Amino acid sequence: MSELRLRVTATADLTPTVRRFVLQDRRGIALPGYEPGAHIVVTTPAGHRRSYSLVDPGGARPSDYAVCVRRDSRGRGGSVSMHDDVAVGTDLVVSAPANRFPLRPSPRYLFIAGGIGITPIRAMVRRLRAEGRTGVQVLYLTRSAAETPFLEEFDGPEDLVHHGAGRGRLDLWPHLAVPDDDVRIYCCGPAPLLRTVQALTAHWRASRIHMEEFTAPQGGVSVPFTAVWAPDARRVDVPAHLSLLAALRRDGVPVPSSCEAGVCGTCRLRVMHGEVEHRDSVLTPGERDASMVACVSRARSAEIVVGPWEGGST
Ligand code: FES
Repeated sequence: MSELRLRVTATADLTPTVRRFVLQDRRGIALPGYEPGAHIVVTTPAGHRRSYSLVDPGGARPSDYAVCVRRDSRGRGGSVSMHDDVAVGTDLVVSAPANRFPLRPSPRYLFIAGGIGITPIRAMVRRLRAEGRTGVQVLYLTRSAAETPFLEEFDGPEDLVHHGAGRGRLDLWPHLAVPDDDVRIYCCGPAPLLRTVQALTAHWRASRIHMEEFTAPQGGVSVPFTAVWAPDARRVDVPAHLSLLAALRRDGVPVPSSCEAGVCGTCRLRVMHGEVEHRDSVLTPGERDASMVACVSRARSAEIVVGPWEGGST
């Protein structure tokens, strides 16, 4: 994965917890292009690697990358480092953009965003509306108006912004009851929202449904374990505060990665021995029999034996 060193040139608080960061090349050189739905992996000043969607529509040679980060003080520390340690002038190492949630052609679209899951959807909607497209419907679910980034952009006739505080959940069924092959549904948000949309669209053609979870499910308490790297029998200690991926890299085992949130499968490893606590959102039950993702999943047993997955990715 190629990496860039970019400078934060602007920040803005969009809500009390969501901050927008704009990153540019220090010499003003145009950046590698991207399309709506793309993300970059940012190494925070505290050393976390976090995947953030690019919130603008992109193009061939953009002048900047913009991401939005919601501060989660109960998370794994990445968002807190972005909020507390990054300011205008900070240099950050980021990956070139990758896209696992691409916008596919369709006569019409239904976008469903939950909270900060609006970020890739905003990029898609802006691209389509800039092209003059109609039939671009948005359902945007948040807790309150004050906690709704980009609220002012979603006030058109095809937009429905629903604030749950005091009103309960929006009933999505009226929007999903009738399957339509001329519509693509894009949904991004927390796992419960994705599960709901999945259940309510079971009668739709699967190719019309596109989902992105903005964070992998958090596991329980993390305990230390030992990983044995099968190719050379190297023993790698994985402390509670480090991921298997980070511990392998610390000890010189190069494992490819992209999202580092358990949602893309790039860091998949073969499991030869030991019990795994799967914390990802990408592997199927069948795939979990003999593999795991190293960025979020951990061992349940004191020792686990792992090796490279053929091809290194899903
Ligand atoms: S890097 Fe994406 S699942 Fe691990």
